[in-house]
Amino acid sequence: MNRIDLEGRTAVITGGARGIGLATAERVIASGGSVVIWDVDGNAIDAAVAELGDKASGRVVELTDAAAVDEAAGAAGRIDILVNNAGITGGNGKTWELSPEIWRKTVEVNLVAPFLTSRAVVPLMLANGYGRIVNVASIAGKEGNPNASHYSASKAGLIGLTKSLGKELAGTGILVNCITPAAARTAIFDQMSQEHIDYMLSKIPLARFVEPAEVAAMIVWLASEDCSFSTGAVFDISGGRAVY
Ligand SMILES: NC(=O)c1ccc[n+]([C@@H]2O[C@H](COP(=O)([O-])OP(=O)(O)OC[C@H]3O[C@@H](n4cnc5c(N)ncnc54)[C@H](O)[C@@H]3O)[C@@H](O)[C@H]2O)c1
Repeated sequence: MNRIDLEGRTAVITGGARGIGLATAERVIASGGSVVIWDVDGNAIDAAVAELGDKASGRVVELTDAAAVDEAAGAAGRIDILVNNAGITGGNGKTWELSPEIWRKTVEVNLVAPFLTSRAVVPLMLANGYGRIVNVASIAGKEGNPNASHYSASKAGLIGLTKSLGKELAGTGILVNCITPAAARTAIFDQMSQEHIDYMLSKIPLARFVEPAEVAAMIVWLASEDCSFSTGAVFDISGGRAVY
């Protein structure tokens, strides 16, 4: 593993209790930083913090609740890095068969919540003159997966949020980027049909799922000072699936 320097940096990682978020927490700590996990699942936070050790802490936060996010940001202390990683698939179905409730919920968690966390954390970063924000979008946001219009649209929206915020913050010391992974075998697979999982694998030229640790490596580099001339940008980690 290459050494990425996050010495003395604190990262808030949403959805950091498992999957890609937990792998990112591990890599942040291995890089000398500390992590604060914001997740809705208290038991999973406890297990993650026990595994990660004393450089990790956690807080139960429903990320679609603006007041809860504001409160969490106020309690976090200095925040150098924000990783907007929490997300849901909302299940699979043709667009016209999806309920308005699940469509809205998916957009709330995957797009509105990163807006709420950015809204709460950016003023703190501005006061420090430093920050790195990394948004975990998806290849679905670039290509539009069939049977996942809610998920694809929410991730396309997150790419748009990244581009706007990156430009707004240019010159402040805060850089904002997003990544667009292909599928990784995590608990999120429980929210998808086998047919959809097979479809996603069939689209990856490298012919395997990406490992959470591989995604974490890209996130943590983007969260470091080595990332210095990229903002409002979209980073591919799709095993060759993306053509742009
Ligand atoms: N795994 C993949 O195939 C894949 C591919 C591309 C992008 N992504 C994206 O990567 C991110 C992480 O995915 P993962 O596979 O690790 O998922 P996961 O299901 O393993 O973990 C997601 C975490 O987010 C938390 N969470 C969900 N809704 C929340 C809410 N409203 N408030 C607070 N916490 C909430 C969950 O409790 C969970 O701990 C997601 O944004 C996902 O869309 C995943």
